[in-house]
Formats: sequence, structure tokens, C-alpha cells
Amino acid sequence: MGTQGRKIVDTDVKDLVILLNKAYSDEWLAYYQYWVGSKIVKGPNKEAVIAELTLHATEELAHATLLTTRIIQLGGTPVIEPKEWYKLTNCGYEAPSDPFIVKILEQNIKGEQCAIKTYNALMKKTRDKDMVSYNMFLTILTQEVEHEEDLQALLEDVEIIMKNK
Ligand SMILES: [Fe+2]
Ligand SMILES: [Fe+2]
Repeated sequence: MGTQGRKIVDTDVKDLVILLNKAYSDEWLAYYQYWVGSKIVKGPNKEAVIAELTLHATEELAHATLLTTRIIQLGGTPVIEPKEWYKLTNCGYEAPSDPFIVKILEQNIKGEQCAIKTYNALMKKTRDKDMVSYNMFLTILTQEVEHEEDLQALLEDVEIIMKNK
């Protein structure tokens, strides 16, 4: 029971826990989208893309861990029923139904762009109100910005390879 830790939060804790659970749902869906995408992806520069998708999956899961720690610190309960992820998600889930490398990269870039917007908004909401959550959102946002950059660079490489064939 982190009573003092909770007392210093200068915003509605219940509302904040809902927002944290929404981001938590995003992270699990992002984890699975990357993970399953890495298993089925096909096309040029596949090895480099598989390595990046696998790394991103690991990092999305680490974000879920950070979020669940904060949810529990604030007296909340992380989503315990995966069906709820679909109801709570901000960014949704795009099934990689087409395993072509360009399609998978594009879907994941879209997901990262949504994550960047989500964490940027969460930072604005908690700024000067909940420094611990704010700092965690900054850590996650920094990684989502890296993810977008990594995927766009890979997509550029794939497009160059395809052009020169
Ligand atoms: Fe993430
Ligand atoms: Fe990400």
C-alpha cells in the first residue's frame, strides 16, 4: 500500500488507472502483432526485419510491465481478461493477414505512430500532476520514437532493394 506515493498524485487516480489500463492493453496487442509478424514475415531483407520485430516485441512487453507496476502502485488492477484489450485499446490490433514485408512494416509503423500520439497525450495529462507516471511515459515514448524510426529505415532499405532488382 503506497499511501504517501498515491497522495502526491494531483489528479483523479481512478481516471489515471483507466488510462494506464488502456495503454497496457495497447502494449499487449502491439507485443503480439510484432511477435506473430516476426514469425510469418516474407520478402527482401527478411533477416534484418525479423531481428527488429523480435526486439520490438520484447520492448512492448517491457512497456506492459512498467505500466502494470504503476497501475498496482496506484491501487488499481491491471486488465486480467484479454478480451478487454480490444475494448480498451487506443491503437487497436492489425492482424498481419498479408505476410509481405512491406505490409507488415507499414502496419507496425502505423501502430508506432499511434503509440507516439498516445504517450505524448499522457505526458501532457500528467505533467506537474504525477511525476512518476510522467517519467515512465517519457521512457516509453522515447522507445516508441526509436521504434518508428527503426521501422521507417527498414522500409526504406526494402524499397531500395526492390527498386534495384
Ligand atoms: Fe510500447
Ligand atoms: Fe513500439
